[in-house]
Formats: sequence, structure tokens, C-alpha cells
Amino acid sequence: MSAVSNQSIIYFDAAATTRCTDAVTAAMVEFSEDNFANPSSPHSMGRSAKLAVDQATASIARLLGCSYDELTLTSGATESNNIVVLGSARPESSDNIVICPIDHKSTLSAASEMERRGVEVRRMTVDANGRIDLDHLARIVDADTALVTLAYVNSEIGTLQDVPAISALLEGKETLFHIDASQAAGKVDINVQHTRVDCVSISAHKICGPKGIGALYVSSDATFRLRPLTFGGGQYRLRSGTLPVPLIVGFGIAAERISKADLASWWEAANYRRQVILETLHGHDVRYQLNSPTENAVPHILNLSFPGVRSETIIKGLPTVCIASGSACNSKSIAPSYVLTEVGHEDARANSAIRLSFTADVEIEKVGLGAELLARKVCSLQKLITREEIGA
Ligand SMILES: Cc1ncc(COP(=O)(O)O)c(C=O)c1O
Repeated sequence: MSAVSNQSIIYFDAAATTRCTDAVTAAMVEFSEDNFANPSSPHSMGRSAKLAVDQATASIARLLGCSYDELTLTSGATESNNIVVLGSARPESSDNIVICPIDHKSTLSAASEMERRGVEVRRMTVDANGRIDLDHLARIVDADTALVTLAYVNSEIGTLQDVPAISALLEGKETLFHIDASQAAGKVDINVQHTRVDCVSISAHKICGPKGIGALYVSSDATFRLRPLTFGGGQYRLRSGTLPVPLIVGFGIAAERISKADLASWWEAANYRRQVILETLHGHDVRYQLNSPTENAVPHILNLSFPGVRSETIIKGLPTVCIASGSACNSKSIAPSYVLTEVGHEDARANSAIRLSFTADVEIEKVGLGAELLARKVCSLQKLITREEIGA
């Protein structure tokens, strides 16, 4: 199979996935080729695989500020979210669960499944920026609320939720509080010592680690309030299955890297890149609408609509620039993004939306070039439409 050369590619799709760092790839190769043993095996190779798993898990625990035993390694944030949503409420009971309607499908679809099983699902309301209405949330949570779940950072528009305020709102209640921090890890503080949350989902491939692995933190007080979805060798209380050592080791290295990173510098660097993109669009007089909030949002997810131009046309017209229309997970669907329609945008605006997302260390020259190519492409498409409109 021929691979496209990455040299000429400008990658603006970091919210979909990121490239493994060289250290992650090297460690995964080592634990696939040389040290390939099952960490549950008692022999020397098994013991050294177990040691590597323990060290990696300790790194992930440091990132979250939790203890080793509070972590379950999963196949990704999709599975982590499913364990929480499907395992938190009792079917056919008076339990209800509260979800945020602009969250990732792994939460929303699991909640629909709970509805099918007879559990009441209540939906938060969000404003035009995707921020959760806290007064409304306070009204819909009651003594039967088994779970409140939300994504800390929205993957499509970058909205940052007020997790400390929601945590305070739930203080003293029996409700489990879960955050999906897949898009937040490495961008904001997700240390559970700083904000009271009961469960956190994270995903390695969003932080320059491998695909197919993630973690679920469940506080030691909350763990018996969740039922596992898989049963078997009992590697964790909440999950069974042979541990994928190469993935775990890679995840550990990725977690270690971001737990040492300076979030303020990361934020500044990402913000600078965002400004470069917006200034380039201004420089070309491109007509656009900003779908990402200007405050209470991460800087590296930039969602824009270009009136009159469908997002697919832009993406197809820019073969060397990787950008997304809606989230990657929805890209097969031709329906407008549910996130954009839920925050109140019309279908036409949602259908012309693209998402640019980047790591804070992507070279400025590449960002500038990508923005320039995008601006020129949109300009020419918009001029075409204007000419059609005036019948020229
Ligand atoms: C907010 C959010 N949650 C969950 C997921 C799913 O993560 P994974 O690919 O690890 O299953 C994603 C991936 O796009 C995401 O952005």
C-alpha cells in the first residue's frame, strides 16, 4: 500500500488524533519485539512486562493525581465512557442520568442504550457557546440522579466547561460525577486532587500516545457504584482482558510528557497559532463565522463556517491540508454536526463548518502556510458564489 508523504502535509486535525512521539513508538516496538510477554505470567519475562505496566500506570496516575488502584486501563475513552454510563444506573429503576447533549457519541449513544433499558435520561441545556446552563442543571439533578456526565472540553468547538462550579453544585449529593477529559488532558489541569470528580476518562491517542488505549479513573469511594461491562481474568475490577503492554508503555510515556509540560506555555503557543490562522483569513478578507467561543475555550480547536461553501468542497480542494468537518467520528455522516445545531446554528452554517485543531508545537511556518492555502481556497470558492449570485 502506498502512503502519502507526510513531509508536504499540514496537519490540522489534532483533536481527531495525534502522532505518537518517537519515544512512544520506540518503546512500543521494544515491547512488541523483545519484551512481548504477558504481564500476568509468573516467569522472568512476564515479571519484567508487569514492571513496565506498573511504571506506565504510575505515570498515568501522576497525570491524574490519583492512586494506581483507582485506574482501569481501557481500549480508549469510548470504552471508559461506556463503562461509566452503562454501569452507573440500575435498569428499570427510578434512577436517572444527566448528560450534556453536545458530548461525544460514546457518551450519547451509551445514554440512548440506557434509555432503551428503562433508565430516564435528562439532558442539560447549553448556550450558544456550548456552555452548560448551571441553573438548569441544578434543577434537573435530584435524589435519583445516579450520574452527571460531561466532556470537560468539547471536541468540535473547544468549549471548556466550568467543572469546579459543577463539582460544587453536586457537593454532598450521592450522584456520581464523571468528566470525559479526552480533549482536556495536556491542555487544562485534570488532577483530581484539585477538583472533586468521581470518574475521569482519557485517551492516549489525543496526547501523542497510541490508539486503542485509554484510562478510566474511578475514585476509591465510587468504584463499587459501577458494574463492569466485561468479565474474565479480572485484570481490573471494572475490566478484564490481557493487558496490551506495548500500548500501555506508550501511553505511560505520553502521560509522563504532558504531566511535566507547562500548561501556561502550551496555552500561549497554541493561542499564537490560532491568531496566525485568524489573521491570515482577515488578510484575505475571507467571510467566515466563528463557531468556537472566544472565551472559556481551548485555543487549539478552531471551528469556522464559511458562508456559501460546503465544508466537503473545502476539504477536497485542499489535498495537502488535513482538516475536519465536524468530528472525525462523525465524518461518515452527511447530516449537519449535532454539536453545531444543538448550540443553535442553522443547517447551512453547520454544513459549511470546518474544524482546525493543532498541537502547540506545530511549526509556525506550517500553520501560516496551511492558513494561507485555506484562505485562498475559500476566497476563490466564495468569489465563484458571488459571481453566480449576481449572474456574472
Ligand atoms: C471528547 C471525546 N470523548 C471520547 C472520544 C473517543 O476516544 P477514543 O478514540 O479513545 O475511543 C473522543 C475522540 O474523538 C473525544 O473527542
